[in-house]
Amino acid sequence: MFIDTHLHLSTEDYHIDEIKDILRQARRNGVKKYIVCGCSKSEIKNVLKIYPQMRSISFAFGYHPEFADSITKQDLLELQEFICHDRVVAIGEIGLDYHYNNENRQQQQKIFREQLQLAEKLNLPVTIHSRDAIEDTYQILSQYHVKGVIHCFSGSLEMAQKFIKLGFYLGIGGVITFKNSKLKNVIAKIGLEHVVLETDSPYLSPEPYRGKKNGPQNIYHIACFLADLLNISIEEVAKITTTNAMCIFDLK
Ligand code: NI
Repeated sequence: MFIDTHLHLSTEDYHIDEIKDILRQARRNGVKKYIVCGCSKSEIKNVLKIYPQMRSISFAFGYHPEFADSITKQDLLELQEFICHDRVVAIGEIGLDYHYNNENRQQQQKIFREQLQLAEKLNLPVTIHSRDAIEDTYQILSQYHVKGVIHCFSGSLEMAQKFIKLGFYLGIGGVITFKNSKLKNVIAKIGLEHVVLETDSPYLSPEPYRGKKNGPQNIYHIACFLADLLNISIEEVAKITTTNAMCIFDLK
């Protein structure tokens, strides 16, 4: 069994029939649990509306750094309410994105810190978005007692080891299958002991589907790639990464 630990699966990105179809395909490919993100107020409300009953779906709610400029105190209070939902297993994706906007670093850091405090207070893991900001992300995370996943990890071996030492897992998805990705060298060295699988659907489809809309069924292709890379069986990839995900997100 596989777990897709990070995906966006709302009707902002997919038609509702498409979602049903995708979930069927994913189940056939061995994906049995999903952590669906809500990283804006509208995405959170959307997923709460479409997944009231599906026990295979858990949630991660938090405000993405791209919205940092518009987040108000009231929004943060509302986030606390959203997070009280019994199927929320993490706060995320939260973090820093200097690629998207390099001019509001202070504001991004403020919103990031507010949400880390919330995670600390509620004892919830976090899923971290970090783009062109890995040093600052590390510095800030090291100041809080939080654990979680560095979503779509793409740093060096040294950074991987630093995050692992801090208690974090690395979220690995389609990017590792890209021809020019340096990530395979990192994972070949550290193995899967601190890795969880994710698709980040609808983004970042693995090879051979690169450029197409992603879905959780593609976890299987990421797992196949890792099995080849590490010369282990696909069952072994499933076993290790699923155990890691169950542990970090306290999934039942
Ligand atoms: Ni995402």
